[in-house]
Amino acid sequence: MKALQFDRFGSPDAIVLREVPKPEPGPGQIRIAVRACGLNPADWAVVDGLLADRLPPLPRGVGFEIAGTVDALGAGVDGVQIGDGVFGPATFDGPTAGAAEYALLTNWARIPESVTAEQAAALPMAAETAWRALDDLGVQPGELLLVHGAGSTVGEAAVRLALHRGTRVIATAGPARAAALEGIGAQVTGYGEGMAERVAALAEGRVDRALDTAPTGGRIDRPGRPSPAGGSLPTLIELTGDPDRVLTVSDFAAAAELGTRITQIEMRYDLLDEFARLAGEGVLAVSVARTYTLDRIHEAAQLSQSRRPGGKLMLVL
Ligand SMILES: NC(=O)c1ccc[n+]([C@@H]2O[C@H](COP(=O)([O-])OP(=O)(O)OC[C@H]3O[C@@H](n4cnc5c(N)ncnc54)[C@H](OP(=O)(O)O)[C@@H]3O)[C@@H](O)[C@H]2O)c1
Repeated sequence: MKALQFDRFGSPDAIVLREVPKPEPGPGQIRIAVRACGLNPADWAVVDGLLADRLPPLPRGVGFEIAGTVDALGAGVDGVQIGDGVFGPATFDGPTAGAAEYALLTNWARIPESVTAEQAAALPMAAETAWRALDDLGVQPGELLLVHGAGSTVGEAAVRLALHRGTRVIATAGPARAAALEGIGAQVTGYGEGMAERVAALAEGRVDRALDTAPTGGRIDRPGRPSPAGGSLPTLIELTGDPDRVLTVSDFAAAAELGTRITQIEMRYDLLDEFARLAGEGVLAVSVARTYTLDRIHEAAQLSQSRRPGGKLMLVL
């Protein structure tokens, strides 16, 4: 099969398209013929060496979220059949991951009838992160939540899920995503200079909680790496009046300096069926900005690392 692999750490230039053996599903796993694979800032961080000490030796693959058709079942798997359309987080501890013609899933859900493979593959990372962040932040129905960086995929999922939970949402985003976020039901204003005043005017009072989902530029914070100058966390603390009412999914070094919350690392892939249900009802979606074939991975990486992808970047097979 064709798959994207890397066998040295560094920039996305290290990723190559190769002919490799298909992965074999272990107990409890399924293999799918991949139709779509969502790309994330975490892909470039892993190629750059994130988790290097916790995963088997190189080569490894990229691509953390996939959708496609079930092709093989591992021992002990029931409730799903060859030919079913499913989506979920790809396993990434072998020589290949999701960006491949075939990939393995340990957790999955059925793709609802009204949802395409591309739309389904866009969900796992953004929806799981947003759900976990809203829970960790303790967002309550009737509160006013600020989602900063709502033009990101995690931000869009957070806006949609928070509105569905009965929370009023103010979102900061650039012009590319503002109209779409307003259409969903958020009050939208730009980030950057004057943001605190614009948000305060929209809020007409105190913001109850603030969620930072702005990207750190394809780089995930690790101990020993410098903070990107605090980003917007000081503004979010000013707007809520309390660092404990602010949570970031990305700027961990600044969070440690300023005392805000961060997302916990317990992944909630037990929620995939719920994400499928909400997507089928039109409540949950993550906008797909552009699609690429496997051989155009470097073009996709460049746009992702520009911090202006404008939605989910998707490999299609
Ligand atoms: N902790 C976790 O478990 C976890 C899991 C997944 C992701 N993450 C992190 O969450 C962050 C978001 O991930 P993602 O994949 O959703 O990102 P993304 O979609 O790549 O974010 C890109 C978007 O962010 C907006 N943006 C860029 N610069 C900004 C700024 N300075 N302020 C506010 N918005 C800005 C832009 O939208 P507009 O300019 O058009 O508004 C851009 O299109 C990343 O840092 C990622 O590493 C964490």
